[in-house]
Amino acid sequence: MNKKPLILGIESSCDETAASLVTENEQGIPIVLSNIVSSQEDVHKEFGGVVPELAARSHIEKIDWIVKKAINKSGKKIDEIDAIASTAGPGLIVCLSVGLSFGKTFAFTTNKPFIAVNHLEGHALSPKLNSKLDYPYLLLLISGGHSQYLSVQALGKYKRLGTTIDDALGEAFDKTAKLLEIEFPGGRKIEVLAKKGNPEKFELPKPIINKGGCNLSFAGLKTAVLKISKKIKNDQEKFDLAASFQKTIEEILYKKTIIAFNEFEKMNNPKEKKFVVAGGVAANKKIRAMLMKLCKEKDYQSIFPPIELCGDNAAMIAMVGLEKFKLKLFNDLDYPAKPRWQLDEDAAFLKGAGVQL
Ligand code: KG4
Ligand code: ZN
Repeated sequence: MNKKPLILGIESSCDETAASLVTENEQGIPIVLSNIVSSQEDVHKEFGGVVPELAARSHIEKIDWIVKKAINKSGKKIDEIDAIASTAGPGLIVCLSVGLSFGKTFAFTTNKPFIAVNHLEGHALSPKLNSKLDYPYLLLLISGGHSQYLSVQALGKYKRLGTTIDDALGEAFDKTAKLLEIEFPGGRKIEVLAKKGNPEKFELPKPIINKGGCNLSFAGLKTAVLKISKKIKNDQEKFDLAASFQKTIEEILYKKTIIAFNEFEKMNNPKEKKFVVAGGVAANKKIRAMLMKLCKEKDYQSIFPPIELCGDNAAMIAMVGLEKFKLKLFNDLDYPAKPRWQLDEDAAFLKGAGVQL
């Protein structure tokens, strides 16, 4: 019996310090042996958002024991680890540098290969953890910093079909939460408040809904929420606005996902049609339910990583490490942190005023 690769993953791109050990079973399915995530909610609460320098300081304080804890929990020894995979970007440079330096130092002192991982590639491959999933598949990546439809062709081969031209979806949830005076981190609390409200109460815009293919836009929606939030008189209206926002997002994703399905099919002519939704916003239960229903209607298999693997974690980084390890795709120890790092490097930059769709 050949020894299965054992990969240590490290993640520190934003406000989660995380480490994980991943291997694979006899059937070649990636298995998570440990997955330790330490969030910094308490550090940033009073500022209403992530403060990069405080985040970096917290990563430095915790990374050592988070990695130790991940190794202990896995039941494995340092000697048994085959490679170290650290997130190198995209993200906050002061934060990325902590996990990246730690991973490189670990690799250097233990004389093991080092693998630099794109955080978005981690989200893209996260549904492969604990289950069998072959390429190609369509991915909707919805997180705090990114919102994209991608055709995942193979490891390292991504074709972007659509992206947000302004705010990311998680950012829209977070900003709406702030306007509704929900305590940080408020994005995920919107769907809880929305349950108590009337989704038909406020008519909100759906920017670029009838143009721009499956590109997305949420900035106009945020401006509308800002205007209405100033006139809100009681809690019930707050719940109604949360419900209207949640409903509008579902309608936007419904329509844009159908367009993405068509583009994906044109590009791949796939035998099996698979749709993966990953990133922090994929934890939204109503969005999940709506997209599952759409998949049934359009004959797609819907795949969602478990909730604990939707948000930032290091198991997904180790997952990419595992695939790269098998192909011997190692990196030198002078690999830089890359605060901006697109998955599809050929895709046009589509942000800011004057974007042509
Ligand atoms: O993937 P993630 O943990 O970090 C990034 O890479 O950005 O995503 C975090 C984002 C935040 O914007 C958060 O508000 C959003 O995911 N989020 C949610 C929910 N849970 C997390 N948004 C809507 N509904 C949720 N249940
Ligand atoms: Zn993320």
